Amino acid sequence: MTLQRYVSPALMGSRDLSSSAAPPTLITVPDRTQYTKGSLNLDQLDPSDPIKTFTQWFDYARTSGLVSSPEAVTLSTAHLPSGRVSSRTVLMKKVDSRGFVIYSNFQTSKKSRDLATNPRAALNFWWEHLERQVRVEGTTERLTVEESQEYASVRPRDSQLGAWASPQSSVINDREELDELVRAVHEKFSQTTNIPVPPFWGGLRIVPDSIEFWQG
Ligand SMILES: Cc1cc2nc3c(=O)[nH]c(=O)nc-3n(C[C@H](O)[C@H](O)[C@H](O)COP(=O)(O)O)c2cc1C
Repeated sequence: MTLQRYVSPALMGSRDLSSSAAPPTLITVPDRTQYTKGSLNLDQLDPSDPIKTFTQWFDYARTSGLVSSPEAVTLSTAHLPSGRVSSRTVLMKKVDSRGFVIYSNFQTSKKSRDLATNPRAALNFWWEHLERQVRVEGTTERLTVEESQEYASVRPRDSQLGAWASPQSSVINDREELDELVRAVHEKFSQTTNIPVPPFWGGLRIVPDSIEFWQG
């Protein structure tokens, strides 16, 4: 229903919801060529250490010149008890043997509200020009304040202040309101060289229990 609201109010008005007739097709996508870029052989994978395989695939994606932002990844979360699932793009900033790290707001964002009810999450990397996908499923945990501070400190000052200013995913009245929040934060930290990481912002680690590698 929400989708219909976004698609077109006129469409909603004209649809007869009691009819079982299929609605008119709005988009059709023609068949495309087959995925033939590569092949996947067991000797390219290390089932005992999938994070190592991910690291190799990521390095290849980064150095191939074919993937502009290999770190851009879809993060999915699921709210409980409603079961409502939501996805959004985030940037993966670090991988180590424990898992995949992203940074976000933990107070107002929908992902944080979902994770408060259900720590399970999934990541989906799609590197189109390599015809490669990596899917990760796991459980999330917060990085320590010290770890988040370490990352936050190397971000541009405006980004650090933006983390303080942004009520991510909250409804604001207009652009002015956001500009005012930014102005207030700049004022608050005008004499501060080392900006502390906000208590409501930081790193989230997705600790995987399964990683799937797909090659076209
Ligand atoms: C390319 C790209 C990178 C993004 N990176 C991040 C990120 O690293 N962290 C983040 O919180 N949001 C990031 N966003 C914004 C999210 O997609 C999303 O709008 C925001 O996190 C709020 O989502 P939520 O309300 O579902 O939690 C990015 C968006 C795009 C398009």
